Amino acid sequence: MSTTPGLMPLQQIPADVVNLADFEPHARARMSEQAFAYLSGGAADERVLQANRAAWDALRLWPRVLRDLSGGHTRISLLGREWPQPVLLAPIAYQRLAHPDGELASAYAAAAQGAGLILSAQASVPMEPVARAVLDEPGRGPLWFQLYWRDDRVFMAELLRRVEAAGFEALVLTVDAPVHGARDRERRAGFKLPDDVRAVNLGGLKKPLNLAPGQSAMFDGLMPRAATWSTLDWLREHSRLPLLLKGVAHPDDALEAQRRGVAGLIVSNHGGRTLDALPATAELLPVLRAAVGAGFPLLVDGGIRRGTDVLKALCLGADAVLLGRPYVHALAAAGALGVAHALRLLRDELEIAMALSGCRETREAGPQMLWPSRI
Ligand code: FNR
Ligand code: LAC
Repeated sequence: MSTTPGLMPLQQIPADVVNLADFEPHARARMSEQAFAYLSGGAADERVLQANRAAWDALRLWPRVLRDLSGGHTRISLLGREWPQPVLLAPIAYQRLAHPDGELASAYAAAAQGAGLILSAQASVPMEPVARAVLDEPGRGPLWFQLYWRDDRVFMAELLRRVEAAGFEALVLTVDAPVHGARDRERRAGFKLPDDVRAVNLGGLKKPLNLAPGQSAMFDGLMPRAATWSTLDWLREHSRLPLLLKGVAHPDDALEAQRRGVAGLIVSNHGGRTLDALPATAELLPVLRAAVGAGFPLLVDGGIRRGTDVLKALCLGADAVLLGRPYVHALAAAGALGVAHALRLLRDELEIAMALSGCRETREAGPQMLWPSRI
């Protein structure tokens, strides 16, 4: 990564960083208070933000010893291909708030570390160089594009065409955030998007609401424009890429998604940024795995901070996990090198956790590796 086109000169990793959480104070020191509140905050009282962490912590691994683990590895297979490791960077909007290189730096780092990349629809750099940064790296992970539905089919069809031409390999429709949650921390800090950070891949799309007197901005303005189940059919007709849904919580919705030909699901509560009364994702995951059955691609995010969290997620039925805020903290702290280092630390921790649990391959991880009583 020393000659990466379009990136600032490589920065140093702060000397006191030994795990993912250690990047956070460096990010706080480098970002504006408002941008840091946007990045780190959750909705309302941040109960879900805390619950996600607490639920991973409440699980314990139950190791087996004296097994022959030689030749072990972290590889996974997902959507018909094998990848180096079970971690993808979650779609996070506006990464130029954290660092001038923004999503481009995250892309180089993910590819260099064999992690996947899901580019946010609200990315603050153009999608094409991001895709090239990933596709040019032979040891890379998956390259997916996240969508928010916009009620403008001409625009959406053109966006899909561009995403496919750029080389993205799957679409991720986020379904848990048709509107923002009540973002108290963000509002207290007075967060506003600075003029030089924009969702550059979406252009100037914004239709006025045009409400009649007495109408609700939510239910007469925004909700008629939001995605519904029939949106999935439209997306599948207009793109040949596999479609995953991010933010499904109920098993009946998971089954409906399967019936409509969705290729996979991401169990997520948006990192605690939407409805502040949701189950933790570690609680949702086994319920959804039971609903969709073995073999159906299922990913999870929310509060993944340690290699042991990744292994616990695999034990509960995930094929892979998404990493959210910590990689953007690393981006703010040290650009591309910071993100690469964060991913390397997480992978090292995962390998340690696997070795100490007696787990040779990711596909061996299962409920038998979890201590049954949860206190
Ligand atoms: C997000 N998330 C998100 N999700 C999505 O589908 N599209 C998006 O544009 C964004 N943007 C975004 C911005 C910021 C600042 C954050 C923190 C999160 C949600 C994200 O993909 C993921 O679900 C959570 O961040 C995972 O939780 P952790 O790892 O941050 O706890
Ligand atoms: C957020 C939106 C962009 O969580 O998904 O801020």
